[in-house]
Amino acid sequence: MSPSISDIDVTKLPRHVAIIMDGNGRWAKKQGLPRIMGHRKGVEVARKIVIKARELGIPYLTLFAFSKENWQRPKMEVETLLALLGEYLEKELPLLKEKAISLRVIGDIEDFPIDLQRRIKEVEEATSSLKEMTLVLALSYSGRSEILRAVRLIIEESQMKGLHPGAIMEEDLRKFFYIPDLPDPDLLIRTSGELRISNFFLYQIAYTELYFTELLWPEFTEEEFTKAILDFQRRERRFGRVYEF
Ligand code: FPP
Repeated sequence: MSPSISDIDVTKLPRHVAIIMDGNGRWAKKQGLPRIMGHRKGVEVARKIVIKARELGIPYLTLFAFSKENWQRPKMEVETLLALLGEYLEKELPLLKEKAISLRVIGDIEDFPIDLQRRIKEVEEATSSLKEMTLVLALSYSGRSEILRAVRLIIEESQMKGLHPGAIMEEDLRKFFYIPDLPDPDLLIRTSGELRISNFFLYQIAYTELYFTELLWPEFTEEEFTKAILDFQRRERRFGRVYEF
């Protein structure tokens, strides 16, 4: 029987779900289509999962949509991914407003063409007061770069304030992450059967529950998302201690 929303314990929802949407290219190849058609289908799936997450009441959803390493793909694929991203931002604004979802971006936005940077900022601003859910898009994102960036900034601040390195606490470093108050992911989902983190959130996943599925991202469904949440709810999270949920 397929999992249903009524099986979910609303008192034990993950606060933050992060997704590595992998397998668009392989899906397209299987269908005998160009890779870009896989990405197109991937955007449609992303839309459905955003709606589902909102319906379930998950406060934060992060989608890894473009990694720092993705710039090294063939020029044509990068260009099409950027075009898709622009189109996505254009088309999704009404949905974000209707569902009261605010959009935030993590990553090195200055890597993008100026018109796309502008569009990202416009959508962030237009949705900043919406409070039902936060959709975070990781764009030109690298977990290692985020940590390095934070370390550089904290050194700068410590030198300015004349602070001793020993006075720097974990929370101080987090202040220099792209979104300082973004809670750590409780659940990280990766599609396509690859068992890797691929430079997504690194610092933040210390106690994150990991869920891997063989499905390629274009094959991922709302039911599969619900299944991942149910799987998460069955796990006992101890955070290095003897018992806690
Ligand atoms: C991985 O598939 C996916 C990406 C590199 C891009 C993910 C982007 C989308 C799903 C579309 C954009 C989404 C939003 C929300 C704007 P792959 O190309 O690495 O697949 P492969 O491993 O099978 O080659």
